[in-house]
Amino acid sequence: MTFESLQLPEPATGSSAPYSIAQGLPYEYPLPEGVVGSALHLSDKTPKLFQPLRIGNMVIPNRVGVSPMCQYTADKNEVTDYHKIHYGGLSTRGPGVVTCEVMAVAPNSGTSMVDLGIWNDTQAYKLKDIVNYAHANTSKIGLQIGHAGRKAMTSALFDFLENWDPRAIEKDLVGPSAVAYRPNGRVPTPRALTVDEIHTIIKQFGAAAKRSVEISGFDFVEIHAAHGYLINEFMSAHSNKRTDQYGGSFENRIRLLLEIIDEVRANVPKGYPVFLRFSASEIHDSNPDAWNIADSVKLAPIVAERGIDLIDVSAGGNDSNADRPKKGFGMFLEYATAIKKAVGDKALVSCVGSMHDAKGVNELLEEGLIDFAFVGSPFLKNPGLVFDWAKELDTEIHHIASHWPFKPKYAEMIEYIKSTLK
Ligand SMILES: Cc1cc2nc3c(=O)[nH]c(=O)nc-3n(C[C@H](O)[C@H](O)[C@H](O)COP(=O)(O)O)c2cc1C
Repeated sequence: MTFESLQLPEPATGSSAPYSIAQGLPYEYPLPEGVVGSALHLSDKTPKLFQPLRIGNMVIPNRVGVSPMCQYTADKNEVTDYHKIHYGGLSTRGPGVVTCEVMAVAPNSGTSMVDLGIWNDTQAYKLKDIVNYAHANTSKIGLQIGHAGRKAMTSALFDFLENWDPRAIEKDLVGPSAVAYRPNGRVPTPRALTVDEIHTIIKQFGAAAKRSVEISGFDFVEIHAAHGYLINEFMSAHSNKRTDQYGGSFENRIRLLLEIIDEVRANVPKGYPVFLRFSASEIHDSNPDAWNIADSVKLAPIVAERGIDLIDVSAGGNDSNADRPKKGFGMFLEYATAIKKAVGDKALVSCVGSMHDAKGVNELLEEGLIDFAFVGSPFLKNPGLVFDWAKELDTEIHHIASHWPFKPKYAEMIEYIKSTLK
């Protein structure tokens, strides 16, 4: 891969003052000198990890992003102060992108009862504060949209509560077929969706994407087709036993995914970045019905052709008897590199899962084996991870103006404040 000097957007000045009202914030807020997380002295010597990347019409300052992570803190599926603090803390500290946790496209389709939703306009308006704050800090922020299917409302907390009654969710549990995620477990068996209901869900994905752009103002959207949730359930013959146009052959099992991609694309502006996360393997070699890497290699060019800008490679989650994934750096790297090989430059490919080593990730990027890395749990412990990685790779990057070392146009700011006091 060659060095491409991409123009990052200038920090948006909301007024002529150096101490500017950042766009979208109702109070004065200092602008950073450059895009937070971007290399101060960008050249072809800059480690690939800190070279900008174009994804659709979006240019981002570096190649490590925050992976979507449910925070189980929504109030009636709407944003709470916690979300503002959490995503605010991340978006001030320079990740290439921040991906907000999966948001349910329909009622009762979250992974838990305390997930965020984006099935109505009020939910989308409440997300706007998070987006505005990220933008005031020059950060790019997106969201993941999903439907948890037969695993809806079962994750986190509830599974472990003594007095949790699975019958409370039974009527809302749907999937491709009446096949339980954990046979004989506490989670009930889902009801098979009708074709009309499938068509409604496809529309709900499109409407959620439209709201996330037009109301909330997010910079990108990621479709969640991984970890055993609804789209993944349709893709796998392990969970999909249908005999209609949505089941049976590979082509039929990926039909829901492709129709959702088309619907999302039709509801966002041209060039708007659309990511897709899927599980590249069910990690269960002895199960002939399991989705495997050969299926993913076949799927990747199809979704690239359909307009997916970035394939976010994860794995597992659809088979409660799956093998254990391998441990250590880059758990799913062999899948991501195989998928990158299959799509070439038709789509960007990222990897997630223990991508926890700055030098290791940078080497993979330099060799062109992947285009981007998503990191999850380390960002929960350390929102400033990108600064630690920059230090490790001997690269200076831009801070937000209020972080040490304080580098705004200080003299101009004082002059401006004096002039306003006259
Ligand atoms: C608390 C928590 C919540 C998560 N929620 C989501 C989610 O909403 N959507 C998703 O695709 N993955 C979710 N994941 C998986 C992460 O995005 C990521 O793929 C996983 O943690 C592996 O990356 P890591 O090894 O860097 O943590 C979650 C992980 C954690 C720890």
